[in-house]
Amino acid sequence: LTKDSYPNVARANYAKLTDEHIAKFQEILSSNQLITDKDELLNYNEDWMKKYRGESQLLLKPKTTEEVSEIIKYASEQNLAVVPQGGNTGLVGGSVPVFDEIILSLAGLNKFRSFDSTSGILKVDSGVILENADNFLKEQGYIFPLDLGAKGSCHVGGVVATNAGGLRLLRYGSLHGSVLGLEVVLPNGEIVSSINALRKDNTGYDLKQLFIGSEGTLGVITGVSILCPPRPKSFNVAFLGVESYDKVKETFVKAKAELGEILSAFELMDHNSQVLTKNHLKTSHPLEEEHPFYILIETSGSNNTHDMEKLEAFLENAFESETISDGVIAQDETQIKTLWNWRESIPESSQIGGGVYKYDVSIPLDDLYELTNAARERLIEADLLGEGKPVIDAVGYGHVGDGNLHLNVAVRHYDKAVEKCLEPFVYEWVSGKNGSISAEHGLGFQKKNYIGYSKSEAEIKLIKQLKGLYDPKAILNPYKYV
Ligand code: FAD
Ligand code: MLT
Ligand code: ZN
Repeated sequence: LTKDSYPNVARANYAKLTDEHIAKFQEILSSNQLITDKDELLNYNEDWMKKYRGESQLLLKPKTTEEVSEIIKYASEQNLAVVPQGGNTGLVGGSVPVFDEIILSLAGLNKFRSFDSTSGILKVDSGVILENADNFLKEQGYIFPLDLGAKGSCHVGGVVATNAGGLRLLRYGSLHGSVLGLEVVLPNGEIVSSINALRKDNTGYDLKQLFIGSEGTLGVITGVSILCPPRPKSFNVAFLGVESYDKVKETFVKAKAELGEILSAFELMDHNSQVLTKNHLKTSHPLEEEHPFYILIETSGSNNTHDMEKLEAFLENAFESETISDGVIAQDETQIKTLWNWRESIPESSQIGGGVYKYDVSIPLDDLYELTNAARERLIEADLLGEGKPVIDAVGYGHVGDGNLHLNVAVRHYDKAVEKCLEPFVYEWVSGKNGSISAEHGLGFQKKNYIGYSKSEAEIKLIKQLKGLYDPKAILNPYKYV
């Protein structure tokens, strides 16, 4: 997309970058920490979906919290707008500039600060890649309490800034519970730190919570302290085929009751999401026969014999009661990875055909999948879906355990007619079910104008007041949802 694709936003009255500004940033950083080359900047100006593209002329890559602080202090004094960027895997256009904002990459802040093997508390710089953090923890017998398909690129700070949910929220809960402390550079350059936080700390307001999910609008996260659970000794994965969404719900109820404390993921995939994934992966599907819905169940516990017995008994019961009609259990780690791959590759498979319109919503479980049908029917009525049309397909999948559906509308190219057909239709539909228009990806630029579908006027007023308090010059991540 080009600027014409979002003509409703005008550049605000920020200063334009000058040679003098660049010279000052050169004083703060060494030369390889500044990027001004247009081609090199493209990767940072454009988002993962190739849907949003800014025109920043400068990327800064500090290595320390003090450098971040100096950069932000100067930007604030000079009225220069800044967009904080982690691994740039965000899915709502929040991590890239809209106009010429300076991109502040946190990739250089990548040090492990400490790990306490008694409490499980890990302290890292915000730019540490999630997978690196988890690999480090693996060696210590611990696990990062969040996992997602973008783990090889996204940052610990990035997932905290978006309050990402991921594949095991069902087991480990939200980052609002596991993050114990943050180090943050405020929009005036001041460093505030609660990084030494303890598990319990009721001395007044829990200020760190505001930054979790603030999407770079209130401060730049430079350090994270997080409570990590012991790594389960045994993982098992089953991939099931079911005949209706009602059966998906039945399976979920049974899984919770029969697998209890070892259930660590319950993921839904509709038939069409697997068709897209098969076209992309070009390998044979785990289940020979096709089904309207597929479920991936993961258990993790401390005793493989015990866990496997439980999983097998659960599957036997579910087959006997005809709740599920097909299924396989992974026999080793490679098979576990393969089964997960059929779930984790859906985002890429939806995007690879040219682009994707993504809707990440919370809906009460009874109506969770229905949105996918409603959107598909609407696209068909508008004559936008099918061979030779902009839309390849509308597919639904997600984290049933969290009441979170992902509706992906895979397109051959981005097209205003498709967007108009789906927006605000999807948001109205979700609001009508008292759902949330952003379950885990955030609001970013995409949902800038739609926050009112999930938040009241009184709440929006408070959000704006908080933004005004923390960032009176509004230099951090402008044009996004606040
Ligand atoms: P970015 O994309 O760089 O930034 C995201 C937002 O946070 C932006 O607004 C940015 O300004 C801000 N930000 C980044 N770093 C900082 C910082 N240090 N301080 C302040 N603000 C900052 N999300 C889920 O919730 N669950 C999933 O299962 C999931 N799976 C995904 C799978 C794939 C293949 C992809 C591409 C994305 C997925 N996501 C998922 C989206 C998710 O939002 C990101 O992967 C992750 O949370 C973003 O981290 P990042 O470091 O890439 O941040
Ligand atoms: C997922 O669950 O796969 C993620 O939230 C990413 C996505 O939906 O694209
Ligand atoms: Zn998700």
